[in-house]
Amino acid sequence: MAALATVLIFPHYSAFGERNLRYLEKGEKQPLKVKKILNWDSLGKRHQSSPDELDVGFEFHFQNKMDKEVRITRAFTSCGCTVAKLPKTPWIINPGQKGTIPITMDLRGKTGIIIKESTIITNLGTIILTTKVSIGSANGSLVVKRARSAEERAANLRLAVKNRQAVFQQDCIECHVKPTIGKRGKQLYATACGICHDAINRAPFVTELRALSKGKDKAYWNMWITDSKSGSLMPAFAKKHGGPLDDLQIKSLVAYLTRIFPREIKTKKAVQAAATAKVPPLK
Ligand code: HEC
Ligand code: HEC
Repeated sequence: MAALATVLIFPHYSAFGERNLRYLEKGEKQPLKVKKILNWDSLGKRHQSSPDELDVGFEFHFQNKMDKEVRITRAFTSCGCTVAKLPKTPWIINPGQKGTIPITMDLRGKTGIIIKESTIITNLGTIILTTKVSIGSANGSLVVKRARSAEERAANLRLAVKNRQAVFQQDCIECHVKPTIGKRGKQLYATACGICHDAINRAPFVTELRALSKGKDKAYWNMWITDSKSGSLMPAFAKKHGGPLDDLQIKSLVAYLTRIFPREIKTKKAVQAAATAKVPPLK
């Protein structure tokens, strides 16, 4: 019954919940030839994400190949975790004019295959842009972090309380060091920092960095990443303290944290998950 209703209300859906779309890989280029009111490079884009990516940005390119203007009045998406950005509306696309619509999907707390639709309303009808992300390993080349029991997590924490650099040693390396190797910027943040600071069940004593990131300068980030503070649980990442990051990596991280990080989207769900985060009791 529910499936039938879906088909009746959204006729572009197949009974399996997905249109017959030819997806273009994120970043792939194709001439603007798909006709749907405007001419698009594709109406569907997809991406194979690693478990550490926090969000993914797609760009849909179009051109008006008709001899009349198209007015784009609104864009809405099927959930708050996906955002299609328009300039000031109504956005008037003159004959011959080209444009781009960026669509960002927030992946935090998600697994498996996610398909989202963004509906673009114009004076000539609606256009639906579909974005699809598979999170995790498609070919076995990506490492999916194994789950840990509450006991293991609590034991790790006890080790970290004794020695905040323990996280870079022995078995901890698998999750806290290896994924950071060779990474820069945003990817490095996700693997080195996000693992603790953006965890869906983040421990309450681990600071919510996005909330405090506004107005923090390079010196602030550099100090915390390089040396941290003695007596805190935050590890020191610089090589001179036995950490995994070289100077160039730290520089790229500081650049990301001051320029891009404070502006990145944050979903209600992630905020809620962070607010209700629980940590196993320490014995
Ligand atoms: C299998 C992957 C994995 C291994 C191995 C691992 N960690 Fe973690 N660690 C995580 C994840 C994921 C988080 C984020 C919290 C969560 O989701 O449980 C985390 C969070 C933490 C935190 C923040 C406090 C908390 O509990 O959230 C500390 C401290 C920590 N780990 C220390 C360690 C130490 C020390 C070791 C080695 C003895 C270790 N970890 C080994 C995956 C791992
Ligand atoms: C093993 C878990 C873990 C990892 C990985 C981690 N942090 Fe932290 N971080 C913490 C904890 C716990 C605190 C709270 C320290 C305290 O108050 O004692 C903290 C505090 C901080 C603070 C201070 C915030 C404040 O309260 O003023 C900053 C800044 C920070 N971390 C940045 C980072 C950055 C950047 C990275 C990545 C390079 C990172 N952290 C990686 C656990 C972690």
